[in-house]
Amino acid sequence: MENTFAQDVLKGLSAKDKYLSSMYFYDDNGSRIFREIMNMPEYYLTDAEFEILSMQSKQIYEALNFSGPFNIVELGAGDGFKTFKLLEYLVTNNIDVHYIPIDISQEAIDMLTKNLNQRLPNLKIHPRVGDYFEILKDNRVSEYPSLLLFLGGNIGNYLEDKAKELLRLVNRNMKLGDKLLIGIDIKKNPIVIQNAYFDNHGITKRFNLNLLLRINRELDADFKIDDYDFYCHYNPITGNVNSYIVSLRKQTVELKALNKSITFDYNELIWTELSKKYSLEEIEKLAVASSFKLTTNFLDCKHYFADSLWEK
Ligand SMILES: C[S@@+](CC[C@H](N)C(=O)[O-])C[C@H]1O[C@@H](n2cnc3c(N)ncnc32)[C@H](O)[C@@H]1O
Repeated sequence: MENTFAQDVLKGLSAKDKYLSSMYFYDDNGSRIFREIMNMPEYYLTDAEFEILSMQSKQIYEALNFSGPFNIVELGAGDGFKTFKLLEYLVTNNIDVHYIPIDISQEAIDMLTKNLNQRLPNLKIHPRVGDYFEILKDNRVSEYPSLLLFLGGNIGNYLEDKAKELLRLVNRNMKLGDKLLIGIDIKKNPIVIQNAYFDNHGITKRFNLNLLLRINRELDADFKIDDYDFYCHYNPITGNVNSYIVSLRKQTVELKALNKSITFDYNELIWTELSKKYSLEEIEKLAVASSFKLTTNFLDCKHYFADSLWEK
């Protein structure tokens, strides 16, 4: 079977504890609903990181300690909404920078490039479409030092061992002295976190159930959306937010494209996402375990989110 979406869905729904990967949330409709999530007042993550990059670009640049031209290589650049503030500071101050946004989505890269060409015509931009772990290999042969950006708190979607493995892979593709600015959501009042993820507008529920609609469409399945609910839970000790789809009935779903049927018990769960929060001590430990040295944590004014600067 060459369709990895089909393969992954079947594997996850056939497991004893059912799961679906959160990376499949983002079809066109899912990306639109995610923008609604980012616009909710309770979803503090985007605002906090935007504030850091708007207010502390100068301090971030100074902490890099690069003496000449350098690269900014962004992993999963998306719409570059937050990165714009850093780039704007650098261009306005005539700092010689080459911006290399990488994204798997051609559409995202096309929109980002068009937007930056209009708003920052003097920026040298070298967009790349593809998997960032593949493209990152080119970084080792660049003549310039690099600042890698891995923003948005995406590292929190990985279990700790996997996160370390990914960060070590990033590290192996960096030159000595290169820096990584990584967005990490910080442990805070559990009520703030619970409200951001278990929103009472029902938008995150719609975001999760959209994955079942995607399976209906792409794998000719017959999930009845009203028979499912959403639940999520933050554990302030581990820092884990775990999200689930709940089956409200004992029921069977046909995946016709795969000629398979899946049974659900009453109240059975499908685990859909981990969003791990770190304390500042845990961020330092994560850096060291991934062979980095932590230089500075740039925090927003509420200390909700960190853009943590690490050096190889
Ligand atoms: C949740 S968005 C975050 C975008 C941006 N960094 C931010 O903080 O707003 C993740 C982005 O990473 C891209 N992406 C995910 N996995 C990727 C991979 N393996 N290689 C390249 N891009 C990837 C997605 O297409 C998406 O644009």
